[in-house]
Amino acid sequence: MKHIYKEGKANRPTLLLLHGTGGTENDLLPIGNFIDPDAGILSVRGEVLENGMPRFFRRLAEGVFDLEDLVKRTEDLNTFINKAAEDYGFDRNNVIAVGYSNGANIAASLMFHYADALKGAILHHPMVPVRDKGLPSLDGTSVFIGAGTNDPICPMDEAKDLKGLLEGAGAEVHVHWENFGHSLTQSEIQAAAAWYHNKY
Ligand code: MLT
Repeated sequence: MKHIYKEGKANRPTLLLLHGTGGTENDLLPIGNFIDPDAGILSVRGEVLENGMPRFFRRLAEGVFDLEDLVKRTEDLNTFINKAAEDYGFDRNNVIAVGYSNGANIAASLMFHYADALKGAILHHPMVPVRDKGLPSLDGTSVFIGAGTNDPICPMDEAKDLKGLLEGAGAEVHVHWENFGHSLTQSEIQAAAAWYHNKY
């Protein structure tokens, strides 16, 4: 997968950066550096193109996901992270995702499908990636959700349901609310950074 890698300082986490629809691996670099300048960075470009816009999995309509493709792309991304850890020599057990919108959704899907894919995740404006699925044990996984009270793409119930499902699997989840629609604001990024520094 097309990506950017930057080595981190010893024992710091690797931030897996996952852009929103129409983004690239460059988009979240400033946010990754803001959250933890000492962390490693693995920033990946989604391989699906929707009218020329990169995404991490196909959708049938806005908010309606192609579940078969989602499962396959989630597996591909997990395999890619495994291989990158070997190639670059970072700790596979110390990867924290930072995703926005479609990138947050594939990060959530990694946790829905694999017990040890992520040590933690910062999910900006996510949805529930798949419903009616048993989750693996997520004991020890910490998740920050940034959501909008008036987000037209990710309604409040999506964030609330996602929190409940992750907590039901054993994850510890913090939800931060904003009221700027689907936008990723500076104050939300600051809240995510404060949460991160409290944990890692
Ligand atoms: C998705 O398709 O993952 C969500 O609708 C968010 C987005 O627009 O990317």
